Amino acid sequence: MKVKKAVIPAAGLGTRFLPATKVVPKELLPIVDKPSIQYIMEEVASAGIEEVILITGREKGSIEDHFDTSIELENHLIKKGRRDLLKVVREISGMVTLVSVRQKEPLGLGHAILCAKKVVGNEPFAVLLGDDLIDAKVPCIRQMMDVYQNMDGALVAIQKVPRAETHLYGIIKGKKVMDRVYSVDEMVEKPERGKAPSNLAIIGRYILPPRIFDILEKVKPDRRGEIQLTDGLKELNREVSIYGYEFIGDRYDAGDKFGFLQANLSFGLKHPEIGLKLKRLLKELSSSHR
Ligand code: UTP
Repeated sequence: MKVKKAVIPAAGLGTRFLPATKVVPKELLPIVDKPSIQYIMEEVASAGIEEVILITGREKGSIEDHFDTSIELENHLIKKGRRDLLKVVREISGMVTLVSVRQKEPLGLGHAILCAKKVVGNEPFAVLLGDDLIDAKVPCIRQMMDVYQNMDGALVAIQKVPRAETHLYGIIKGKKVMDRVYSVDEMVEKPERGKAPSNLAIIGRYILPPRIFDILEKVKPDRRGEIQLTDGLKELNREVSIYGYEFIGDRYDAGDKFGFLQANLSFGLKHPEIGLKLKRLLKELSSSHR
């Protein structure tokens, strides 16, 4: 089925990145010169999705501002003759139609998605988490939309991770049914070390049927008072098939300090302005730290 809408939850508190995220939302922390959420918005736009539902929370108004028109800034750039920057700034506000919904309290990812119920309506929709940056020739969500065309139910992005890291992820147990596609039998959220049923980890891209909303409404909060998407997905898996899709691309966990630096270095090395300089610097640093 065709996917026309994407939900981007961005209402989390970003505690792993304190103190940087005390005032600045983690979604606006830059990877080289672009806020991480802009990479996500570009992925959505280039996949052909027309409408984005952004879930925001307190202190997150600046994310909406980033994608809004800034007449003052545009006038300033026109006056200074900076047509190049003007183009960059205008492209951001013209990217997609944005609807924003407030999650009044950060009650978990499942709850954040539930906030989009009315705007999404009765059609399958994509979910993209800002923490997972995926550098790919074909945008990850586009790859998933292409696979989803021939199915209903739900599709989650998966990636093989080192066995020693499975306790950090939601892990699936499944059977391979096609090239890169697994039928999911079970999902285990952050399994204890050595107890993961596989090394196939769920990554922050999903295509979900609207039925998930009714299910999330009934999911009980966990020990921390949060409504978890994984609990909703487990329930959904009783009714419809859930598939895992092993996407093609490099993924960075930009919500984590090390992943954030990795993303900055990787994107920096490819950046036309600073790529070469950065490469030289890294060489110098590695030889001086031997
Ligand atoms: P995370 O758990 O990675 O985000 O949620 P967080 O809570 O902001 O981060 P830490 O762990 O405290 O550092 C995954 C995604 O779900 C969103 C987050 O913004 C992030 O994109 N989220 C999470 C919400 O929108 N609302 C919530 O209540 C929780």
